[in-house]
Amino acid sequence: MENQRIVILDFGGQYTQLIARRIRECHVYSEVLPYNAPIENIKKGNTVGIILSGGPASVLDENAPKCSKEIFELGIPVLGICYGMQLTAELLGGSVVKASTREYGRIAVNLEESKLFEGLPKNIEAWMSHTYQVGNMPDGFNCIAHTETCPVAAMANDVKKIYGVQFHPEVSHTDFGTQIIINFIKGICGCVGDWTVEAYIEKTVAQIKDQVGENENVLLGLSGGVDSSVVAALLYKAIGDRLYCVYVDHGLMRKDESAQVKEVFTKQFPVHLSAVDASELFFDRLKGVTDPETKRKIIGNTFVDVFKAEADKLGISRDYFAQGTIYPDVIESGKVPGSAVIKSHHNVNGLPAELGFKGLVEPLRSLFKDEVRQIGLALGLPDYMVFRQPFPGPGLGIRVLGELTRDKVNIVRESDAILREEFAKAGMDKSVSQYFTVLTGVRSVGVMGDERTYSYALAIRAITTTDFMTADVAEVPFKLLMHIGSRIVGEVKHVNRVLYDITTKPPASIEWE
Ligand code: XMP
Repeated sequence: MENQRIVILDFGGQYTQLIARRIRECHVYSEVLPYNAPIENIKKGNTVGIILSGGPASVLDENAPKCSKEIFELGIPVLGICYGMQLTAELLGGSVVKASTREYGRIAVNLEESKLFEGLPKNIEAWMSHTYQVGNMPDGFNCIAHTETCPVAAMANDVKKIYGVQFHPEVSHTDFGTQIIINFIKGICGCVGDWTVEAYIEKTVAQIKDQVGENENVLLGLSGGVDSSVVAALLYKAIGDRLYCVYVDHGLMRKDESAQVKEVFTKQFPVHLSAVDASELFFDRLKGVTDPETKRKIIGNTFVDVFKAEADKLGISRDYFAQGTIYPDVIESGKVPGSAVIKSHHNVNGLPAELGFKGLVEPLRSLFKDEVRQIGLALGLPDYMVFRQPFPGPGLGIRVLGELTRDKVNIVRESDAILREEFAKAGMDKSVSQYFTVLTGVRSVGVMGDERTYSYALAIRAITTTDFMTADVAEVPFKLLMHIGSRIVGEVKHVNRVLYDITTKPPASIEWE
């Protein structure tokens, strides 16, 4: 039986992904589709509800994005949020007007009796961000909320089960926002909450068995990151020893990382694991290279070469290639292309086309990161692997500024290990999103044991973020920073000065290269 599904039509709102996540958190499967998705795709499968997202346009614009009116005739409940509510009004014969006062931020809202607001108090504060608002409601609708300046802050047609809210129930600043979403998906759409980790694993394992024939194999590039590790564990459950994992050690891994990957994927999940130590080739090709983009490209290309050579050596028929694409990547790839390339990201994802496989296995394609983690835990992967901070494909190579040498990478590796150990001890590893050390190319004068030193300055970077697109500097207790700094200078050779990077993103990026 297919999972009940809530379809979210995306009109370009900044919170669209958040709506999908909130719904998933209630154990209901949700999917984001473009606003102009064909009606067949919208009603396909077990769609029990439709949400129209917010968006930056005005329905009064000539080129405003619009969905088909047919959506309201499918007999499936609809909830329009912000732009989605205005579009509902406009498409069904109501009107939208420019508001006399633009509402932005937390606004007091008075609620009327409604199925959508069941269990809520009469007055709440909700997150608003709009310049336009519904003037006249379409026939059959009742006003179910208002604010001081917005007479129709929510509307309902209980007979047709069509609803609209001008505010954003999906953001945490809206009181009882999650309850409103639950009222819609459970109370109005009748969702039972059939989207569970166990059900997902069972379904996905069955799908993989179905896709990959009994005598066929799957090749997976295993990096030790959360996504590829969870893919490996899922595939191991589905096809056992027909899974071949290739782990490329470019010599730019963190301390003990390679050993941990080998431990987990030979003992706990005994897959075929080829762990290739290709560090010599990487350092060789990177000799004398100082430009960050060139370094990234060389690391990426060498990775592909090593991976290909290993795949050939394995001699398995190249049936399927598995990768850890997750849902935000899928949503992103559907967005407007052409944004500026700040850094060329290196992922294993570019490989399959070059390798000529018969098919792709992407068992995490519909999952958000927190869901991937839950699946990992349920499959028995160790906590340190499941809750790992992100680690870039080029590894420590982009944390040594300028030319890479084994000695310099070692400085970063050892200082990073100290930083991680101290953050874990202080519990900072839970509240800080990403933290690492960077070897600046700068050397300065110092004094150690009465001797003059002329050694490297090393920077500590620690940031908090939800999406890694923007980031704040983590407020690390000064005493802890001092302690880490003195440990690094004391224990790591060739460092005599430690700095703390106090730059947000933007203007800086998270990594230094
Ligand atoms: P920046 O430096 O662009 O980093 O602000 C944003 C996030 O992306 C990570 N990062 C990478 N991840 N391959 C990856 O898989 C890469 O080439 C890469 N470069 C940066 C970075 O660590 C941060 O989490």
